[in-house]
Formats: sequence, C-alpha cells, structure tokens
Amino acid sequence: MLDAIHKRASVRAYTDEPVSEEQLDAVLGAALCAPTANNVRPWHIVVVTDAGKRAKLAQVHQWASFCAQSPMVLVFCADAKRQPHWWIEDACASLENALIEAAGLGLGTCWVGIRGGEAGESPGPEREELVRELLGIPGEIRVLGLVSLGHPRGEPTPKPAGPMDAIHRESW
Ligand SMILES: Cc1cc2nc3c(=O)[nH]c(=O)nc-3n(C[C@H](O)[C@H](O)[C@H](O)COP(=O)(O)O)c2cc1C
Repeated sequence: MLDAIHKRASVRAYTDEPVSEEQLDAVLGAALCAPTANNVRPWHIVVVTDAGKRAKLAQVHQWASFCAQSPMVLVFCADAKRQPHWWIEDACASLENALIEAAGLGLGTCWVGIRGGEAGESPGPEREELVRELLGIPGEIRVLGLVSLGHPRGEPTPKPAGPMDAIHRESW
C-alpha cells in the first residue's frame, strides 16, 4: 500500500476491460474502513456501470468527460444530516482510500469534484443536483465527488511529491 500511495496518478483514459467484482469489493472495502469523525460512518457510495448514466455523469461539467469511457464510476456521498460538520472530511478520507486501493490493484482512477457550494457561490449546488437527480440520491445526502475506475490505457505517470516547502518543522 505504501508503494500504491506513490504510484497513484490520475488516469483519464481506460481500456474496455471491466472491473471484476473482486476488484470492486476490494476498492469498496478500503473506502469503508477510512477514519471517520466520531465513528459516524456517514458514507454512501453509488456504483455506476450503466453506459447511459455514465454518459450523463460525463457531462456534469467540462472536466468529467472520461466518466463515459471508464467501465465504472463510483459516486462518493455522505449523509450530512447524520454528520453535518465532518461529512466532507469523512467522504474525502473514504474516497482517498479507494484511490489508493485501486492503485495497489493496478487499476486507474480519477477524482472528479462535484460538491457544490451555497447558491451564488462557485461551484454552486447545480452540478450536485444533476448527479442527485440522475441517480435518485435523497436530498439529505450530499455528493462529494465521482471516481472513474477502470484499467488504465497506458502506464499512469505519478507526479513527483511536493512542493517540499510545504513542510514546516517545529514552527512555520
Ligand atoms: C477535490 C478534487 C477534485 C478534482 N476534480 C477533478 C475533475 O473534475 N476532473 C479531473 O480531471 N481531475 C480532477 N481532480 C484530479 C486532479 O486534477 C489531480 O489529482 C491533480 O492534477 C494531481 O494529479 P495526480 O492525481 O495525477 O497526482 C480532482 C482532484 C481533487 C482532489
């Protein structure tokens, strides 16, 4: 897994090879054992393989087009009624676990941001609403983001870690 953290890179081109149920189970299992504030575990994940739905997810904004091509899209959500303060952190931790597990399995992923802000803010709530309507997600459930999942077309190229001046020792 330590190796997987370093070799993970966003993948935006996929082969047609499907993700097996075993691989999916492993990715979901990793997502569901993330740290979670007060152990509330507010996570919900919608697994989408249907080509028509993926095509619509791919249109949610201009940086999501590859969701039409990856054989699977995981939609990371959280119950904000059960966890109003920490749902974003909880959902992010879960999503990141999924990315790392997938990298460890040799699968490719890309995080696609969805979560909207308040009306008038950018991004506003509109794109979250689009996903919610398409997949029948209830109103109290927030949509954090999508993860495209599949076999990478070509070798993923991890970016170097950094910037190293982000690290501050003892004080800023
Ligand atoms: C909150 C968040 C939202 C992101 N949204 C998108 C997106 O909508 N489309 C996309 O292609 N990549 C998206 N990314 C992936 C980033 O572009 C990518 O992680 C970054 O460029 C670093 O590259 P790497 O993942 O290969 O290390 C997102 C990443 C994060 C953390």
